[in-house]
Amino acid sequence: MYNIITKKKHGLKLTKEEIDYVVKGFTNGVIPDYQMSALLMAICINKMDEEETYNLTMAMAESGDMLSLDSINRITADKHSTGGVGDKTSLIVAPVASLYGVAMAKMSGRGLGHTGGTIDKLESIEGFDTALSEDEFIEVVNDTGVAIIAQTANLAPADKLMYALRDVTATVDNISLISSSIMSKKLAAGAKVIVLDVKTGSGAFMKSIEDSKELARTMIDIGLKADRKMYALISDMDRPLGKYIGNKLEVYEAVKLLQGEYSDDLYEACEYLTALILVGAAKADNLYEGREMFKDAVKSGRGLEQFKRFISAQKGNTEFIDNIDSFVNVKSTIEIKARQEGYITHMNTEMIGLAATYLGGGRATKNDIIDPDVGIQILKKTGEYVNSGDVLAVLYVNDEKNLDKAVKTIIASYQIGKEKPSINDRHAYGYFDGLDYKSIE
Ligand code: URA
Repeated sequence: MYNIITKKKHGLKLTKEEIDYVVKGFTNGVIPDYQMSALLMAICINKMDEEETYNLTMAMAESGDMLSLDSINRITADKHSTGGVGDKTSLIVAPVASLYGVAMAKMSGRGLGHTGGTIDKLESIEGFDTALSEDEFIEVVNDTGVAIIAQTANLAPADKLMYALRDVTATVDNISLISSSIMSKKLAAGAKVIVLDVKTGSGAFMKSIEDSKELARTMIDIGLKADRKMYALISDMDRPLGKYIGNKLEVYEAVKLLQGEYSDDLYEACEYLTALILVGAAKADNLYEGREMFKDAVKSGRGLEQFKRFISAQKGNTEFIDNIDSFVNVKSTIEIKARQEGYITHMNTEMIGLAATYLGGGRATKNDIIDPDVGIQILKKTGEYVNSGDVLAVLYVNDEKNLDKAVKTIIASYQIGKEKPSINDRHAYGYFDGLDYKSIE
């Protein structure tokens, strides 16, 4: 290990054998955290090339179970977001895409830090089971076309250990390390079509479009080498997605969209993600047709019906769907008002995500218990003009312990100025179809 760290310290390329040795040794506890930390930092500074990144991904994927989805009777697809604030697209996209003969066999994560996780959102629904056995998972996908479960304990265990270490050693934001972390789990989870939603902006790991494109390209390249069909959307996370942040609040917003009431950015994200899945699975000839299929599913109410089937198949109580306006219950709501007039010139989306965790909606550490009802409603976003006293956001509160911190964080996250900012009104900026990037005008 000492020699491997030294090699990377000098910017030299690691061989497949060296990478396999590191991943195996670290996973089975032979390589200690301090040596692994040194190597991760050397990788952050001197980077890995394409081949090293691929070898690292495969070693991590093969560190645990590699799920076979061969007994699923339709083409399998998975969708993954690099992490965001208010991102509830999986709740909508997975059931809608499954209406068209694609098996959406999806494993998701929990929220950590400022970003939310699909599993926490689904678990806010009474009875919903995110821990189906592998056989049950396959049975539900075969029966209904869609299932979303939590990553099993032995899915890419090397990633779990490495991610925990990266989190505390300032080694998260390296493109090779993020790519191998995400793609090892996606490859181990077995789907043939993988659609990535690579977020860009103040609430994302990648703050610029150029970095987001590089991350997308790196992950696509890994997936193509591993014989998967790969697509990636580059989408905005400089503002929270949609109007709600918080577990039940996001389920509420997803149901509302499927009932035909939505904000444009969320709708656009879901429309493009569904279309990419349908094109990848050869159920739509092109993106335009795929988008029309999404629109039709929402308009006809078939998306909502499929959402109900999906919740019910995983033992969730679906009664809340018909009474969606009484789904979220908190002790109080608190309005955050603008203190000056002007244009909202910027929102620090990461801070907004953190404010939701201060209210109890997310975790600062893995073992924190979350409150499913709390969260934030966003009423004003970047580019809008506000008068002093206009409500910017509403906090949904149960426990007032960190309320003050949450309020201060939200206020600090909004910048208001005289000049109208020039912003891109689109939510979806562009997409990769294999390795080719096309921008969306
Ligand atoms: N999500 C992951 O799963 N891994 C990373 O490294 C970053 C985001």
